[in-house]
Amino acid sequence: MLRIARDDRPDVLFEFEGETLTAKAGDTLAAALLASGHRTFRATPVSGAPRGPLCMMGVCFDCLVEIDGAANRQACMTEVLDGMRVRCQDGANDISTADGTAEATP
Ligand code: FES
Repeated sequence: MLRIARDDRPDVLFEFEGETLTAKAGDTLAAALLASGHRTFRATPVSGAPRGPLCMMGVCFDCLVEIDGAANRQACMTEVLDGMRVRCQDGANDISTADGTAEATP
């Protein structure tokens, strides 16, 4: 991926599937992963088909990942932070709602 040659922002170190990667402070997590050559962020719940970012603006939910143990996080809407630990999301993960019920994600 093309990156602006002159960028004075500090580097940020984060982990994806156990691999330490470098990003620029202020990048979204999706942009940082794509810039590092990663295209698959999750697997679909039914077929396990690989999915990666499509819209990059919070609409498609194809960029869902697990961040620091929390599932269902949109990588395109999340700023990459130093020390962040990211994993692919495998299928649907339930999230609890305020009333104690659980709902599955797309
Ligand atoms: S890429 Fe579409 S919601 Fe993140």
